[in-house]
Amino acid sequence: MTLRHGYFSDQGYTFGAYPETSPERLSFVALLLSQRPPDLGSEFRVLELGCGQGFGLCLQAALYPQARFTGIDFRAEHIAHSRALAESAGLLNIQFLAADFLELAQAPPESWGRFDIVIAHGILGWVSPEVGASVFAAAASALRPGGLFYLSYNTLPGWLGALPFQHAIKGFHSRSGDGQSSLDAAIALFRQLQSCGSPLLQAQPSLAGRLEGISSQSPAYLLHEYNNAHWQPQYADQVMRQASEHEFQYLGSATLPETFDGLLPEAFRSVLASCSDPGHHEFVRDLLTNQSFRRDVYAKGRDPLWNVEASEAIESLEVFSLLADEDLERADVFNFPLSLGEVQGNRVWFLALMQHLQLGPCRLGDLHRLPLHGDGPTPLPELLQNIALLLHKGSIALSPPRRDPAPAQLFNRVIAAQVAAGAPYHAVALPRSGNLMMLSDVELMLLHASLRGRSDEALIEALSANLQTLGRSIQKDGQTLEASQRHEELTRLVARFQAHTLPLLRRLEAVA
Ligand SMILES: C[S@@+](CC[C@H](N)C(=O)[O-])C[C@H]1O[C@@H](n2cnc3c(N)ncnc32)[C@H](O)[C@@H]1O
Repeated sequence: MTLRHGYFSDQGYTFGAYPETSPERLSFVALLLSQRPPDLGSEFRVLELGCGQGFGLCLQAALYPQARFTGIDFRAEHIAHSRALAESAGLLNIQFLAADFLELAQAPPESWGRFDIVIAHGILGWVSPEVGASVFAAAASALRPGGLFYLSYNTLPGWLGALPFQHAIKGFHSRSGDGQSSLDAAIALFRQLQSCGSPLLQAQPSLAGRLEGISSQSPAYLLHEYNNAHWQPQYADQVMRQASEHEFQYLGSATLPETFDGLLPEAFRSVLASCSDPGHHEFVRDLLTNQSFRRDVYAKGRDPLWNVEASEAIESLEVFSLLADEDLERADVFNFPLSLGEVQGNRVWFLALMQHLQLGPCRLGDLHRLPLHGDGPTPLPELLQNIALLLHKGSIALSPPRRDPAPAQLFNRVIAAQVAAGAPYHAVALPRSGNLMMLSDVELMLLHASLRGRSDEALIEALSANLQTLGRSIQKDGQTLEASQRHEELTRLVARFQAHTLPLLRRLEAVA
């Protein structure tokens, strides 16, 4: 097995894209915390450290054609894929560089310039402490003062239960030298522990849960998650202390609801009331919620929006609904699954808000003044908390500054065609919201066929042929369907795509 500075390097990573890393989401966090956000209508610059396969960064570059994006990774396979994708999607505003963080931190490229946003998603805690330090150093030298740094990492205490499992993988590694067989051996060992009744699994129920979920996770994710010599989930206060050595100040979470303590139960808030130090506050908050993954947003130096500027900027933001009429009647439509458990929204308030948004986009200032409670306007902090819940769940979106949707539409066309050819992508770019939407491979195959002019019966045939070419079965509720049930299921999938997904993609300008 090959490790580079202790990082697993035998095969490539997954092809993910994450809404929390988007300029749209990071600017909103900045605004919520009264930090001057980058102007998303301008030629802003984004750097991703450890961009992996580059799919997420290419998607953002397609959404913001006037901005410039740079992705860095030390793995040649990742850079090769990233560049090929950018080229096939006709993206002219993105570059990918093969480089090691350790070297970058020592000597940033001459042409580096200054970035408005730096992203490091899923790096810290998977790499050695030296490489981790170089991620902070590289981010600090690349960001302009006042710029935003997104840093996500596995968090303690949420990963406590997995420590012995990862330790076992590391042990198998050192003996066999092979990533996949070490992972398999550790899974087999822990299943044995489970079936022989070891008290470990009772004492660590989260470990049992992780073992249960492992069969549905991609091998590429699992290998990069667990097979690193320095794998170490982090405590928030330690990370925040390290960040402060580079003049990074913690703003809040790109997992939007986690920026609002008001969403915590009363008893949790009273524990937090005495935690005035920001690092200690976040550490205790993570203990209270058993946090396992943080998406922190830092500013490289505070560039504050003054009170009136901040409230004017927030009130002028426009939001619009992503839900169809019938969705509002579903019992769980205003329940919000968060890391601490499910939060139930005030149904009367949320229904009134969403019904208002069904009439069209609305500025937050206008929503703030509406009598959604029945008896008067909603206080701004409560409105923002509820807007954060809805954005996080994908029920609403923010309207970004107007841009040319053509590059994102071309990107989506290319992605759909590549998924039809077997590529493992799962998201499209939405110009209307400045962010992304997750789609299944079946939906992307249907998008590809419908963009080629197929309709109804022809779509069913095209999907069936596509699945067959890729050797894919059709599943329903986790079961593979028999040939006799396939046509009925394909008909249902096509009908839903035509009635729901395609009109939504058109409304969000994902397709012309
Ligand atoms: C867990 S993956 C996350 C990739 C990507 N951010 C994502 O979420 O899809 C970590 C990435 O960091 C890269 N990496 C690890 N150590 C590195 C180093 N020293 N220099 C540059 N890249 C590195 C790996 O190649 C890998 O792509």
